[in-house]
Amino acid sequence: MALTWTHKDRGEIRVHENLEELSIDLVDYIAEISEASIKEHGAFCIVLSGGSLISFMGKLIEPPYDKIVDWAKWYVFWADERVVAKSHDDSNYKLAKDNLLSKVNVFPRHICSINDTVSVEEAATEYEFAIRQMVRTRTVAASDNSDSPRFDLILLGMGPDGHVASLFPNHPALEVKDDWVTFLTDSPKPPPERITFTLPVINSAANVVVVATGESKANAMHLAIDDIPLPESSLSLPARLVHPSNGNLIWFMDKPAGSKLERFKFSE
Ligand code: 6PG
Repeated sequence: MALTWTHKDRGEIRVHENLEELSIDLVDYIAEISEASIKEHGAFCIVLSGGSLISFMGKLIEPPYDKIVDWAKWYVFWADERVVAKSHDDSNYKLAKDNLLSKVNVFPRHICSINDTVSVEEAATEYEFAIRQMVRTRTVAASDNSDSPRFDLILLGMGPDGHVASLFPNHPALEVKDDWVTFLTDSPKPPPERITFTLPVINSAANVVVVATGESKANAMHLAIDDIPLPESSLSLPARLVHPSNGNLIWFMDKPAGSKLERFKFSE
């Protein structure tokens, strides 16, 4: 059984017994938000990330989810992308396509990925333009209180350094406020060229999920969630800056990733 609680301003925390339990809870949650979003505005705008997240979504292609999810209403985006060819093993698009999107009935025209034939700067500009068009036509909702899209669900992984999307600690991309998508040519984690949603876009979503597993994430999880005086360097811990202004935030983790959380330590 998962240990679940709500932190007064860091959202809901779900510490799972094992990866199987986490995976089932995650796909149940995705299916629930998909259904609610389609009921509310006729579409489900979901934002993916790279890393192990996609493997935790694997059960979506199995019964009952494969049949109960209304795939035709899905619109798929990425919170970040490595600017490499879409056929390259580093591509987040390829990861999701091979393991999820090619196995369900999402319309190819509903998949909004980067142009991999242009420069990293152009890729960011074109990707933002495509999303702006979809906000204009109301496929993607607009935020009521900021100049940002309001995605139904943004799924993020988290690195051991606390990075989310391609927003890395102390990187200038964290400061970008006026663009929805920005680019990096110096990512501390290879490959160096990436595009990423900016914090205002992440924080304007209706629902944001951070999934992190393994002991290597425990310290970043503690710094991202617990009420502790943060050392100067943690002030720009990206995961700590995820804070939807008018939406829900849920942290899905396994016990090793949650092992340094104050609440978890006392409950063991
Ligand atoms: C990247 C990865 C990265 C990943 C996190 C969490 O672009 O380099 O996608 O951002 O999402 O490091 O990855 P894991 O869940 O696999 O640890």
